[in-house]
Order: sequence, then structure tokens, then C-alpha cells
Amino acid sequence: MPDIEYAIDVRNLTKSFGKKLVVDHFDVKVPKGKIYGFLGPNGSGKTTTLRMICGLLTPDEGEGKALGYDILEDALEIKKRTGYMTQKFSFWEDLTIRENLEFVAQIYGLDQKQQRVDKALEKLNLTNRQKQLAGQLSGGWKQRMALAASTLHEPELLLLDEPTAGVDPKARREFWDEIHQLAAEGITVLVSTHYMDEAERCHAIIYMSYGKLVTQGSVQDVIKGAGLFTWVVRGDDLMRLAKELGKDSAIKTVAPFGDSLHISGTDKEKLRSALTPYFANKDYEWHEESPSFEDVFIRYMADAEDNFNAEESEA
Ligand SMILES: Nc1ncnc2c1ncn2[C@@H]1O[C@H](COP(=O)(O)OP(=O)(O)O)[C@@H](O)[C@H]1O
Ligand SMILES: [Mg+2]
Repeated sequence: MPDIEYAIDVRNLTKSFGKKLVVDHFDVKVPKGKIYGFLGPNGSGKTTTLRMICGLLTPDEGEGKALGYDILEDALEIKKRTGYMTQKFSFWEDLTIRENLEFVAQIYGLDQKQQRVDKALEKLNLTNRQKQLAGQLSGGWKQRMALAASTLHEPELLLLDEPTAGVDPKARREFWDEIHQLAAEGITVLVSTHYMDEAERCHAIIYMSYGKLVTQGSVQDVIKGAGLFTWVVRGDDLMRLAKELGKDSAIKTVAPFGDSLHISGTDKEKLRSALTPYFANKDYEWHEESPSFEDVFIRYMADAEDNFNAEESEA
């Protein structure tokens, strides 16, 4: 592999399907050996971007390199060195875990099939289960098998597309331990997810909405960069309060968290003015808080929804 600082370094990626612009001059830079989370609402272009990075889909515009190879000229070299776990990974239900992995090794024409399969089983703690039928596995074990299949050829880059969707929390946590293990061995990972606890386990995140970059950086950077101010209120009948507050333009989001509401805005003073009338009400107890990643995430989701509604009414 060429000596590189960034495992992924692509610029201006653009793709339309028919008249629909799905990815709009999008840049992705991921340093070697890091885990980057890829976030954004459904339909924002994450899967399309991942497919362009690994050479499965040719961009309409844009350029750059993955693992030091040109995404337009050397797609084959990139494919050989990349593991891609698709959103709906398919496997053979009536084959065992081991047979599935052997079959994948066969299809890809890998050498030393037995050794590779043994190693992958061992690494992902599947050895004891190798004779179980894939169709009878729980979601967590299926995803583990999928990860084993995606790493049989010992890739240097892993693109994981919502690998833990629908998997229970314990299995998700263990799956992420494996991802960190792979990164510690030098593999670079770009992983799309809707789970915030997973985003917080990444070195950095990239947030995409409607084909465009919204924000990126470490979770701390993203929280700071959002320029959000948050008040927390406790008291009775919070849902009625939520409804009232939702109408004020200084208030970007109102979100229930357990027995409290988180109320956020981007203008500190306007937000305070909007809430001031309620401060005197003895039914409520108010305090200001630093916004959490979840608050920031909810705000970007709300922006995407506004965008969507605006587009719908234009159409
Ligand atoms: N092969 C395709 N043909 C037509 N439209 C597509 C194709 N692939 C994706 N799209 C559309 O592009 C948009 C972005 O899809 P996708 O990249 O899958 O987003 P995400 O992974 O963020 O949910 C969606 O509106 C989807 O319907
Ligand atoms: Mg997708």
C-alpha cells in the first residue's frame, strides 16, 4: 500500500439518480487507523457515498483516493483492499456459519481458505458456533458473521453500512469492541449509524443531510460547533408546555428526556426571553445546561425535517 496519511481522501463527490441530486459535492477525509461515524437522516446519501468510495459506483463528479488509489482509475485495487458490509447483508440461511464463510472465500477466490476461515472465526468469537445454521442466529450473531465475512480477505479499509441496525444493546456494544480491535490493528473504519452511543465511540463523525455536509469532527467539536443553548425544565404537565413552546421561533427544539424537557435554541438571549414568562411559574423548575450530543443531534434532525417540508411545499 502506498504510504498514506488518509485512508479516504475524496472531494466533490456528486451523484444524481435521474433528476434527483443525491450526493452534492461532498468531501470525506478519514485518517488511517481511525474510526469515523457517518450520520444523517434516511435518504441523505450515506450508502451512495460509501459505494462511490469503494469503487462500486462511479461518481458523476469528484475525485480522490482511497488507500492511496484513485477512485476513478484504480477502483479494482480499492475493492481488493476494502471490506464492505452492506446495509442488508445477505447470507445463506441453510448453511452453517463456517460454510457461509467458506463459500464467501470461494467466491472471492481467496487462497488458504481453511486458515482464513479459522482465523476469522477465532477473532470474532464464532469458533464455538461455527456449526450453527446461519438462519437460526440472533441479529447480533448474524452481524458478527457478516463482519467475519467482510474481513476474510484482510482488508485495510472497512466500510460498514448500519451494521448494528436492529441488534440488541449488548450485542451492539460487543460489535463495537470488535471494531475498535480492528482499528487497533491499523484498519480504517467508516461506519454509518443512527445510534448516538455508537457515534460517541467514534474518533470523529461526519454528519450528512440531503447530500451535503452539515458538520464534522469529534463529538466534542460537533457539540461546540452547533452553537446551541439548552434549558432544562422539570414539573407537571410538561407535554402541554412543550406544545406551547414549540410555536416560538427562538426555540429550535423541545425534546422530552425522562421527567424533564430539553429546550434548545441558537440565540442565547432570544431563547431566554422566550422562556422568561415561564420562570415565575412555581409549577416549573428551570436550569441552564450544556447541550448534550443528543440535543445537538435532535436539532440537526429538526433542521433536516424543515428542509424536507420546504422542498415538499415547493414541489
Ligand atoms: N440506484 C438508485 N437508483 C435510484 N435512486 C437511488 C439509488 N440509490 C439510492 N437512491 C436514492 O438516493 C437517495 C439517497 O439514498 P442513500 O444513499 O441510500 O441514503 P442513506 O444511505 O443516507 O439512507 C434516496 O432518495 C434513494 O432513494
Ligand atoms: Mg443507507
